[in-house]
Amino acid sequence: MRKFFVLAVILVTCMTAIYFSSCNNETKETGPAENKDSLSKAAARGEYLAHHVTMCMDCHSKRDITKFAMPVIPGTEGGGGITFGKAEGIPGEVTPPNITPFALKDWTDDEIARALTEGVNKKGDTLFPMMPYHHYSKMTRDDVYSIIAYLRTLKPIDNTTPPRKLLIPPSMFGPLPENTLASNTMPSPSDKIKYGEYLVNAAVCSECHTPMGPQGPDFSKLFAGGFLFDLGFLKVTVANITPDSATGIGTWSEDAFVNKFKVNASPEKVNADPGKENSIMPWSMYGTMKEEDLRAIYAYLRTVKPITNKVEKYPK
Ligand code: HEC
Ligand code: HEC
Repeated sequence: MRKFFVLAVILVTCMTAIYFSSCNNETKETGPAENKDSLSKAAARGEYLAHHVTMCMDCHSKRDITKFAMPVIPGTEGGGGITFGKAEGIPGEVTPPNITPFALKDWTDDEIARALTEGVNKKGDTLFPMMPYHHYSKMTRDDVYSIIAYLRTLKPIDNTTPPRKLLIPPSMFGPLPENTLASNTMPSPSDKIKYGEYLVNAAVCSECHTPMGPQGPDFSKLFAGGFLFDLGFLKVTVANITPDSATGIGTWSEDAFVNKFKVNASPEKVNADPGKENSIMPWSMYGTMKEEDLRAIYAYLRTVKPITNKVEKYPK
């Protein structure tokens, strides 16, 4: 939830929604019933991604700060998030807007896809890159449009978030992603490392787990942690998740890794008073990811460069 001077790349073209798309020859032959079926399948995939992988619901909903890892307050899904500012490293203030049909009903699927993968909204404004479009631009077209199909099923919430107030002009957000949706592919789950890399990108782990240097995120220390979130009610430093044995997660077994996610997402943990040891990492969302997906994430993280960086999670 910071880092906005990130990399680059993309642009949307062809395709309306994949399910009705004239670019997709298969759908031409399907009848309305089959279309409905594929649409609901897409929405189910989209729900999984939006709640457990791509964190749309984490940012675009209200969070309960009294509970461990601040889960989403039920009933606020997609209705607009909390305002992020200096504490999260934002040069100004920005609130993730309402993305329920209340706000997006007049947007076409392609317009939503453009916001998600190119960082430009319906009005033509460049989005602040805290909205992780640099990551989503690398996802497959099917995944992106399945998220859109899911957004269409959300309960409309009547809420308008405050406009952003940024101290830097949008032209400084860096080059926008190019549209590569037509060629992006999903690695086979049997290729655990590549599939894990796809998930880690979609799950925006690096946004928090890469330390900030004077010029923005320091990509030479990818996943080494160290960024301190000082939220007033909570001070927590991001952990080192590189395979460094002394300061990262090098000694963690695959089972220990998966178990950590499951325990941190369990109702006992989420509902117990977190005291001072709360976390901004949305454990309850990630922790309910498919186990196979968590195992792939582990496999990929074993392959990143080990970096020695001792982190004190809860500084005095
Ligand atoms: C890390 C927080 C974060 C995550 C995760 C996130 N967003 Fe956003 N999103 C934002 C912020 C902040 C903005 C507003 C940026 C601005 O106004 O410059 C935004 C803007 C948008 C917009 C444009 C809305 C408008 O009215 O202009 C859409 C659509 C959107 N997000 C959808 C999504 C979807 C779908 C996902 C998941 C695939 C997602 N977002 C994940 C923070 C996030
Ligand atoms: C919103 C910021 C944020 C995001 C996104 C995030 N993390 Fe974290 N992560 C943290 C913070 C802060 C900590 C330290 C506090 C804690 O343990 O919860 C942490 C801790 C961890 C730990 C525990 C390490 C230890 O030494 O105890 C693991 C493992 C981890 N993150 C993996 C991931 C993975 C994998 C992803 C992506 C799927 C991810 N994180 C996404 C903020 C984040």
